[in-house]
Amino acid sequence: MKFFADTAEIADIKELAATGLLDGVTTNPSLIMKSGRDFHEVVKEICAVVDGPVSAEVVALDHPTMMKEAEKLRKIADNVCIKVPLTPDGLKTCKALTGDGSMVNVTLCFSANQALLAAKAGATFVSPFVGRHDDNGWDGMELIEAIRLIYDNYDYQTQILVASVRHGIHVLKAAEIGADVMTAPPSVIWGLFKHVLTDKGIESFLADWAKTGQSI
Ligand code: E4P
Repeated sequence: MKFFADTAEIADIKELAATGLLDGVTTNPSLIMKSGRDFHEVVKEICAVVDGPVSAEVVALDHPTMMKEAEKLRKIADNVCIKVPLTPDGLKTCKALTGDGSMVNVTLCFSANQALLAAKAGATFVSPFVGRHDDNGWDGMELIEAIRLIYDNYDYQTQILVASVRHGIHVLKAAEIGADVMTAPPSVIWGLFKHVLTDKGIESFLADWAKTGQSI
């Protein structure tokens, strides 16, 4: 499963990229607002740090303006992935852009039928928001299972990008179901490394090693 960082904070992205485990980045208008940076500049900087897809979201609601925004965004770098909302205009834009060789991430997916539409529109990625789904009384991971089943039934190549990930259990379930990608805030990704028994084991090994008086 590919790991994307869900952030527009360049320092956090660099730190994660240094692990060698980062496959891409997702941003959205709220994350750009939080960064306090110029949208075009920050996307350009992220694209230079990460080899994989970097999602940059259009903000227009109509197809012609989405296309104009996408034109500007895809000129930033070859690894820009245009993010469009799961609306009729968003999917029209998705079809036009992917037909033209661009990567497209269809975002704000909350049902398996919406994911079916995104696949039919040729999306590179579909982003079901599991955390927000859970928050509203549904089971986000059941949604991922349903999308996996449908995509496998028809051999759709659209990648399931599990978004709005809040904790390690979301990551674990996404991997068990066979999602293609998950995007999570850096804190969640760093949390995956942690285990109390790993820390305890290192502590006791180092204590015993010190007693040997040896060095490597
Ligand atoms: C990713 O592409 C989404 O924009 C993001 O995962 C949304 O996460 P949130 O629900 O925590 O804002």
